[in-house]
Amino acid sequence: MPLYNALLEHQKLCRSSFHTPGHKSSGIIDPELLKLDLTELPDTDALFEASGAILKCEKNLAEIFGAERTLISAGGCSLAIMAMIRLAAQNGSKLICGRNIHRSAVNAMALLGIDPIWVLPKSDGYFTGRIDADDIRKALSENNDVCGCYITSPTYYGEISDIESISKACREYDVPLLVDNAHGSHFKLLKRDIHPLTLGASMTACSIHKTLPVLTGGALLNIADSRFTDGAKEAMSLFASTSPSYPIMASIDLCANYIRHGGTDEYRQLEPIVANIKNTASELGIVQPEGFCDPLRVSVSTSSIGISGEAAGEFFRSRGVEPEMTDSENAVFICTPFNTAEDFYRLKNSIISLGGLEKDYIRKKSGTISLPQIAMPIRDALLSKSEFVPADKAVGRIAADTACPCPPGIPVYMPGEIIEDTAELNDAVKVVAVQ
Ligand SMILES: Cc1ncc(COP(=O)(O)O)c(C=O)c1O
Repeated sequence: MPLYNALLEHQKLCRSSFHTPGHKSSGIIDPELLKLDLTELPDTDALFEASGAILKCEKNLAEIFGAERTLISAGGCSLAIMAMIRLAAQNGSKLICGRNIHRSAVNAMALLGIDPIWVLPKSDGYFTGRIDADDIRKALSENNDVCGCYITSPTYYGEISDIESISKACREYDVPLLVDNAHGSHFKLLKRDIHPLTLGASMTACSIHKTLPVLTGGALLNIADSRFTDGAKEAMSLFASTSPSYPIMASIDLCANYIRHGGTDEYRQLEPIVANIKNTASELGIVQPEGFCDPLRVSVSTSSIGISGEAAGEFFRSRGVEPEMTDSENAVFICTPFNTAEDFYRLKNSIISLGGLEKDYIRKKSGTISLPQIAMPIRDALLSKSEFVPADKAVGRIAADTACPCPPGIPVYMPGEIIEDTAELNDAVKVVAVQ
């Protein structure tokens, strides 16, 4: 039982969880839920033909998130993203896309034959950065045949784009704004409601298992624009399993109840606690994302004080703190009300002690990111016969996959693009096979 045992062993470490899922195994989710692992029965409704209990649950969620229609996904946010793109693609085959894009969106574009028009985020060199409303406006003015505009906000590091201005630009061109809000499901609950749907997005894909108390795999597709409500279930079922997990779906229902009965207050009460940790990091000279960011996510550039993300990760773990993610230069921590006072004590003290570690990292000057030349559509490249070649032999070949070094979390190439530089890549690279 290798996997089961690995999970039990990890549990024995009793680390403070600053990773997904948002419930932090705290017991907030009814442990009896597993006994409700049922299937579509006359009285349990069916996800893709919802007309009873599931539809009622979805209506409750739509009310909470201020959506015209909300759809449950038990296949993660990836499924909600694919459905969202499918809905937009009914009106054309070109999509304006922020380049910091999740793999599921690239896959959906390949399967649906969509061509992206890329917009690069404006990065500070430490983290991913934000999509600028002026860049979106420019792309809209130069392309009159797009079916939508797709951006990721917040980023993994918690940076939030100016959704209000971006949605205003999209409305002026009558183009729907699709937001990958995977990391921002809790934005509706904060002191200031900064959920992208509230700020004008047409649709959002929200990975509620990441930051709210929901079992892993639980996500939502929120639709504000009534033009997209009708075919939404069909769009999602196109990519989904016909056996969605009832415990996952039930945990989403429990989460809706939690939000309505005190959950919102708990998230708001957390804001000053996390702000205090962020202030501590700032006072120690540790760089964090600038500007408007997720108030409940701590992202620190450990490299800004000469420590690699990997070394920092080991240090945090040795202090009983499990980060959501460490990359070569940064560490990311997801905080929810299901973290305990002891968790926050450990996190703050570990950040304070970080400066005592031996310096092992000199920051490289971040180069400017440019868009590679396109040799073939994403679809052709992703579905083509491919082969793996060593990174140094891949320059000049056509990519059959995406490479996304973190930071900055912006792909250096996408399927179908000519590979220009592999200096940042260690592994073998997947390229289109030479016929
Ligand atoms: C920005 C972003 N979008 C989408 C996803 C996919 O979410 P899920 O794992 O719920 O399918 C992730 C997962 O980490 C993500 O980081």
